[in-house]
Amino acid sequence: MLWDAYNRPIKDLRISVTDRCNFRCIYCMPHDEYEWIDKKEILTFEEITRLAKLFVQLGVNKIRLTGGEPLVRRNLELLIAQLSSIEGIKDLCLTTNGALLADKVEALKTAGLKRINVSIDTLSPEKFRQITKRGDLTKVLEGLFAAKSRGLHPIKINAVIERGVNDDDILDLVEFSRENGFSMRFIEYMDVGNTNSWTSEKLVSKKEILERISARFALREVGRENGSAPSVDYEFTDGRGEVGIVASVTEPFCSACNRARLTADGKLVTCLFSSVGHDLKALLRGEPRDEEIFEFIAGVWKKRQDRYSAERLEALQSSSYDPKNRKKIEMITLGG
Ligand code: GTP
Ligand code: 5AD
Ligand code: SF4
Ligand code: SF4
Repeated sequence: MLWDAYNRPIKDLRISVTDRCNFRCIYCMPHDEYEWIDKKEILTFEEITRLAKLFVQLGVNKIRLTGGEPLVRRNLELLIAQLSSIEGIKDLCLTTNGALLADKVEALKTAGLKRINVSIDTLSPEKFRQITKRGDLTKVLEGLFAAKSRGLHPIKINAVIERGVNDDDILDLVEFSRENGFSMRFIEYMDVGNTNSWTSEKLVSKKEILERISARFALREVGRENGSAPSVDYEFTDGRGEVGIVASVTEPFCSACNRARLTADGKLVTCLFSSVGHDLKALLRGEPRDEEIFEFIAGVWKKRQDRYSAERLEALQSSSYDPKNRKKIEMITLGG
């Protein structure tokens, strides 16, 4: 097992398979110039699988595929098949915007995918298009229900809540998820990347989200899965499902953060708010022995001192926080 400078093990690997996306969500996409990753820099499925096996030997037991939008990467099911045969991976999942899900779900399930998280911020088709710029809600819902019929479980719906945009959609989303057997998760709007115009006024806190839900449905706190998940989960006391809240801004969870990120071009990134990654691809393409890769990853992880969200809260509390103070890797490069 590998531990960082604050005694946090490496457990969870989020692999971005592409930085391309068929949506342009207002809270995620960079407005300024963004340099798309060049095709030849993108890791092949074989390269990803080799790295994944080595990460598993270092302690990783959960892998999540992200993007951009992971389903725009062609033949993603081939990668899922390779990853799902690695011994030691207890949880293999995918975070998707759902637009291509209806067409892909059969292949994904057959390849060994068990569960997915789908981003849906509103159930109003017009608002959905405004938020995602190009998204078609009907298509996404079609994908969501196709995944349900094909037996993926659990299916979690992610909604980023932004004040004045979709805070009035919270209860509709809760009702929809309860009625259809999905787990609803609300996400505090974060200042990811460099250009999403985040301000604390746009934030709807976990406390406020909970108040709004509790006014209609009684809840009981269940806690964080494994003590380290981003989401704090609550069950409805009537037994009809659960809801989770990811409160990176008001209740940071850095102290138990065991997540590493791998970008589509093979950079190892130790925090969602990092400014730079560590170039595993350059090493990988020099035909190294496994030991050299272990040493590289261990060298990075052992020095890891990231606690960005905890620092942000301290700065917000002393009114000294400016999201522009640090240049960050963009969300579409990191996949959340
Ligand atoms: P589960 O394994 O199903 O619990 O999913 P997850 O919440 O780990 O992953 P998902 O991709 O669904 O992400 C949900 C939200 O949590 C997104 O907004 C992510 O950006 C955010 N998130 C995930 N991991 C971290 C993290 O380590 N730090 C911060 N600040 N946010 C995170
Ligand atoms: N704040 C919080 N969550 C975000 N996501 C994208 N941008 C942001 C942001 N600014 C979420 C997406 C998706 C996950 C990968 O990250 O909605 O569910
Ligand atoms: Fe939206 Fe996800 Fe695409 Fe970002 S990567 S624009 S959050 S669908
Ligand atoms: Fe982990 Fe960084 Fe998120 Fe904190 S802000 S939980 S260190 S990824």
